[in-house]
Amino acid sequence: MAHEFKDISPNASAGAKLTNWFENRFPTAFDAYRVHMSEYYAPKNFNFWYIFGSLALLVLVIQIVTGIFLVMHYKPDAAKAFESVEYIMRDVPWGWLIRYMHSTGASAFFVVVYLHMFRGLLYGSYRKPRELVWIFGCAIFLCLMAEAFMGYLLPWGQMSYWGAQVIVNLFAAIPFIGPDLALLIRGDYVVGDATLNRFFSFHVIAVPLVLLGLVVAHLLALHDVGSNNPDGVEIKAPKAPKDAKGNPLDGIPFHPYYTVHDIFGVCVFLFIFSAVVFFAPEFGGYFLEYNNFIPADPLKTPAHIAPVWYFTPFYSMLRAITSEMMYALIACVVLGAGYGIVKGKMPMFFKGAIAAVAAVAIVLMLSIDAKFWGVVVMGGAVIILFFLPWLDQSPVKSIRYRPSWHKYLYGIFVIVFVILAYLGVQPPSPIGERVSQVGTLFYFGFFLLMPWWSRLGEPKPVPDRVTFAAH
Ligand code: HEM
Repeated sequence: MAHEFKDISPNASAGAKLTNWFENRFPTAFDAYRVHMSEYYAPKNFNFWYIFGSLALLVLVIQIVTGIFLVMHYKPDAAKAFESVEYIMRDVPWGWLIRYMHSTGASAFFVVVYLHMFRGLLYGSYRKPRELVWIFGCAIFLCLMAEAFMGYLLPWGQMSYWGAQVIVNLFAAIPFIGPDLALLIRGDYVVGDATLNRFFSFHVIAVPLVLLGLVVAHLLALHDVGSNNPDGVEIKAPKAPKDAKGNPLDGIPFHPYYTVHDIFGVCVFLFIFSAVVFFAPEFGGYFLEYNNFIPADPLKTPAHIAPVWYFTPFYSMLRAITSEMMYALIACVVLGAGYGIVKGKMPMFFKGAIAAVAAVAIVLMLSIDAKFWGVVVMGGAVIILFFLPWLDQSPVKSIRYRPSWHKYLYGIFVIVFVILAYLGVQPPSPIGERVSQVGTLFYFGFFLLMPWWSRLGEPKPVPDRVTFAAH
């Protein structure tokens, strides 16, 4: 549809005339600014937890910009990669800063995104009508994990090499297609130059493109339905109070209110980020592992191979699945199927189907190696997040109005997740193994039993309007 040409008074200022010139030639950009910024109404009761989306955007930009400069000096060649990173660190002007910003940025990304996801859990932001916002978010999380994993191979240190070796070998545990799949990923029978080249290509172009596309989809979907808030009250619902222009009374325009608010958050974040970059870029071996300062040596396996901290909760779950643990999982399948058959109100045919599926699952669990099930559990721990909008059946969205014990349950969930993360960086031990097995059962129990427990207890009355104290 043709846009109407806007006239401007000859007496207008030069700035206004210039803006008018652009607006008449690129009205879409001006419409987008209005729709997404100056006339996008966000709830006025946003709190601390609502800063992490903007921070994730900031870190994304930091990673892309520093990444572009790293690529100018990095060499994706097994014989030169390690040296080229050392060259960046020692000889390229400001190279050390660019590299430390990128390596710290990777960890910062996960800190920010984990907090951002936890906010979603706290306030039920994944519930109707924001299911797609959440699903795009989960896809972003998967992409981020792939991006970080492939990026870690590039410095070609001992941990890059052996970490990739361990993880790619996991794919080989998949029945029938596993060995060929692992070969396809590596491009060779062992991790080598071909692996480095394909990981480089994926890390630098393929995954970032998908990631950017997903972030755009995430934000467009969010702006179509509007943001949730700490009260879980829908400010744009048909019955919500609005002003004469139809704007929600509980909302404020994103610009200037939240742009200023976010700039404050960005300053605090950059303060902490700079402190790490300048004073503790290795962060005690958690952000950059010490073994990765040794060039990759295919003939020397490090004594203890651990992934970077952001993968370790899932890595712990992988290690928890021993052949002994399989019996506990089989017991869970028997209990789950038995409960469904005895308590479920459904025709006999469906009960028979449940029994048959459980029997097949048990046969498979007994006949396929536990290592494969470890991979399934590790992947399942991320995939299960996609289903959260339908697992949560609580009558209210926000934790504020849920029964108090829900808060304790979320608290335990966080503690378990942190313990799993801690155990994942530690060398294997009998006690660690047991604790991670209990932690894994808790993690899956939390999500799989959510349709049941989220309905329990008396929710508190949810107000009609958001709670907001002017400050
Ligand atoms: C590169 C990563 C990401 C970026 C740049 C990003 C960006 C944003 C931004 C700017 C917002 C609006 C501001 C806010 O509510 O904080 C937002 C909201 C949201 N994001 Fe993300 N996000 C990312 C990853 C994720 C992930 C991994 C998930 C979940 C799996 C997720 C789930 C959500 C949800 C549910 C909302 C709506 C929150 C509400 O309205 O209460 N995001 N995101």
